[in-house]
Amino acid sequence: QKLDIDLAAIEKGGYDHFMLKEIFEQPQTIHDSLRGRLDAPKGTLTLGGIREHMDLLKNAKRIIIVACGTSWHAGLVAEYMIEELCRIPVEVEYASEFRYRNPVIGQGDVIIAVSQSGETADTLVAIESAKQKGAIILGVCNVVGSSIARMSDAGAYTHAGPEIGVASTKAFTAQLTVLALIGLKVAMERGSISGQRFQHLLNEMDQVSKKVAIALKLNDHVKEIAEKYKDARDFLYLGRGYNFPVALEGALKLKEISYIHAEGYPAAEMKHGPIALVDENLPVVIVATKDSFYEKVVSNIQEIKARKGKVIAVVTEGDTTIPPMVDDVIVVPAADELVAPIISVIPLQLLAYHIGVSKGYDVDKPRNLAKSVTVE
Ligand code: G6P
Repeated sequence: QKLDIDLAAIEKGGYDHFMLKEIFEQPQTIHDSLRGRLDAPKGTLTLGGIREHMDLLKNAKRIIIVACGTSWHAGLVAEYMIEELCRIPVEVEYASEFRYRNPVIGQGDVIIAVSQSGETADTLVAIESAKQKGAIILGVCNVVGSSIARMSDAGAYTHAGPEIGVASTKAFTAQLTVLALIGLKVAMERGSISGQRFQHLLNEMDQVSKKVAIALKLNDHVKEIAEKYKDARDFLYLGRGYNFPVALEGALKLKEISYIHAEGYPAAEMKHGPIALVDENLPVVIVATKDSFYEKVVSNIQEIKARKGKVIAVVTEGDTTIPPMVDDVIVVPAADELVAPIISVIPLQLLAYHIGVSKGYDVDKPRNLAKSVTVE
């Protein structure tokens, strides 16, 4: 008797696609990124891989984050986090631009290379030349022993486990987690954060995987929203502050796997262009969680509604202002704005996934894309 074993199905662990499995793994992978590093009750944070270079890091004149794709979006969130926590100037660069434009780099500069695979050619070459010019390289990679990890002077692995889906999901939230830890650690060492704020953020980090698990319960609701908007030709994604890179990431996910044109924009910048696109056929996804930009985002929503755009808003639980103003609401748990992107990106990953699946596409292997771009 022949035993038919579908290996791929077993690997997918009961999920229809690797992408969905990886989205649902995030409470665990975030937990893994924190394990052995964060002890919130004791108020301690240990990052063994950067300890030796802490003096250089905390005295950095400038931090330059170099990455591509989704990892570049994680870098943008880190820019906001590190500048706020550490008061060190941060720049975020596309590796492909950085490597070719003869950038001004020298002693005292710290480069953080963010890469899931650790093999992206542009990122690898960019850090190679920065290293020759005297910069210290800190790698934030997922794949252990990868080329970027090996070329780095110091680093912290993201520990998200193998990511098979071409569109990055769990690696992104693991990057955000580790970059937040780096920011917090350096801030503590520099004395640029109060003991109280430090402890508060450690507690927030400690809670984040539980909140991601709650956000994943939105799956069925997000699937319904996906059905409603799957035939749209374009999507606009908006966010401000920490949620601006989340908007970029949401748009990238949708483009990658559903082949719908999507643009991510800082919500206020919308007035300088994308608002011209708004009409009753344009779904606008707005990440509008309760943070220091909240009131401003509410005005941006009014501007879109006044032009009959369809608004899908990601809001914080307990928000009673935005829900009556918009077409669809996605409610996520409350969190400090610094860690909120780890939670608010979850429904956007699910939205892209369900739209891609409902259009019949192979979401694990989108056309023309590679998991790891090892050529330029
Ligand atoms: C490719 C992948 C993306 C990824 C990007 C950067 O485009 O499809 O998911 O974000 O490369 O890859 P890295 O491995 O350096 O994070």
